[in-house]
Amino acid sequence: MSVGNERRRLAPILRPPATAEEEELFAALDLSRLPRHVAVIMDGNGRWAKQRGYAARIFGHRAGTDAVRAATRTAAELRLTALTLYAFSKENWSRPQSEVNALMDLLDEYLVKELPEMRENDIRLVASGDPGDLRDKTRRKLEETIAATAGHGGLVVNLAISYGARAEITHAARRAMEMARSGELAPEELTPEVFGQMLHHPELGDPDLLVRTSGELRVSNFLLWQIAYSEFVVMDVLWPDFRRADFYRALLEFQRRDRRFGGVGPA
Ligand code: IPE
Ligand code: IPE
Ligand code: MG
Repeated sequence: MSVGNERRRLAPILRPPATAEEEELFAALDLSRLPRHVAVIMDGNGRWAKQRGYAARIFGHRAGTDAVRAATRTAAELRLTALTLYAFSKENWSRPQSEVNALMDLLDEYLVKELPEMRENDIRLVASGDPGDLRDKTRRKLEETIAATAGHGGLVVNLAISYGARAEITHAARRAMEMARSGELAPEELTPEVFGQMLHHPELGDPDLLVRTSGELRVSNFLLWQIAYSEFVVMDVLWPDFRRADFYRALLEFQRRDRRFGGVGPA
């Protein structure tokens, strides 16, 4: 049930390593042991703005879109299968209306501005979360971009928008109950595998690597089911400063881990 193993064509290399630091980090990577699916909690935009003396947090959010572009390019260059980006949580609706509006404006802008690059690099956009929570304009733009990239076979960018893992799991549980009620599924047929298929985009597979920027050691209602065996890498860098070298650093840390999945690992 996974995409990418049969990748038909390779994403083009967009840009060679630009700095000596990038080159050195890239050279240290084992390209045969990259994660398939990387998920990112893009955190620290507000602190970034504050650090630079901006009164409005939105400056950080705007700067964060450059980091989104950098992360997407890097993932495409490395031919990862999927990149899930936590862009807006269910709980983020509780922020001041002006910040929410500004974030939605940025999302609209992102969806229009990034489409040419998605086309050029064979990137397919999908979304996780509740699009029904979004204002009409933003939901339409999201649906349009998803439709426009649906035929692409390269990296899948999964934008988690109005996403909350508890809502996702509850929704799946409700679906399982409805299937039981209609006789489509017997309770004893509900296994973790069957249940997992009822969550958003199971075809992407579970994230191998979960990155959180800005140093916070919490999950904030992100992918609670899917990260059962993900490797966590928490980085001190604030999201707007995240660039290709930081992505490489996260991947190098991932490659130092010994994933055992409950077993005993190599002798
Ligand atoms: C992450 O940055 C972006 C969103 C949650 C939308 P924050 O806005 O949470 O930035 P900090 O954590 O306050 O620095
Ligand atoms: C998590 O960051 C959500 C996103 C990055 C979209 P938050 O900044 O909302 O998380 P908390 O409030 O610090 O837990
Ligand atoms: Mg935050």
